[in-house]
Amino acid sequence: MLCLDSAGGRDGFSPSSACFAVLPYPVGSPLPRTMPVSQADFRKTLGSFATGITVITLDSENEVHGMTANAFTSVSLNPMLVLVCVDQRARTHAHLHAKKRFGVNVLAEDQKAISEYYARPTRTHDRAAEEAGAIFERTAHGTPVLRGALAYLECRLHSAQDAGDHTIFIAEVEEVVVREGDPLLFFQSQYRKIGPPSS
Ligand SMILES: Cc1cc2nc3c(=O)[nH]c(=O)nc-3n(C[C@H](O)[C@H](O)[C@H](O)COP(=O)(O)O)c2cc1C
Repeated sequence: MLCLDSAGGRDGFSPSSACFAVLPYPVGSPLPRTMPVSQADFRKTLGSFATGITVITLDSENEVHGMTANAFTSVSLNPMLVLVCVDQRARTHAHLHAKKRFGVNVLAEDQKAISEYYARPTRTHDRAAEEAGAIFERTAHGTPVLRGALAYLECRLHSAQDAGDHTIFIAEVEEVVVREGDPLLFFQSQYRKIGPPSS
């Protein structure tokens, strides 16, 4: 992000110089003066980056544990690596370190209830089927994956790197399944549906 210091000069991004500008402003006009970045500004800005939604799944204490996550992306093609960023306070954080194998389920358009269910900090997930329609199948390795997901990736933990209050879990992809269908999207704190392709 481009920032302006108080004298209007150009300033590289760093935590101490983080700034926030409310746009739009006309193209070609001088960049606006900026304010220090608050956490609300940060969230709002990142919320303008549209994403899909995943649920991270693994076994824990005789039930399937799930966590809704959109901080998911590909990392490398050779080897095939992906990453997910997990809050260090989330129960999933400890489960990932312990299990080292997990599923990443890319939610389909009709799975909003599943996303909402696994975003709640409930103690157990024993009502996932009744409340959200979450039914699980097993990969050859025994990893639980969501029935009806648009895609799933079976992942084996490669490395973990703490970054602020989250940890970046990088994982090797061992198996993938993709179905036809439309994804569930998340944009500006709301669930969205995909539109037709732009020409
Ligand atoms: C759309 C959406 C995306 C989310 N993405 C993430 C994420 O990428 N990483 C994360 O740690 N939490 C994310 N969360 C929050 C967790 O789903 C939530 O804190 C959950 O209760 C953690 O569950 P756990 O404590 O059982 O692991 C997201 C929530 C929503 C609604």
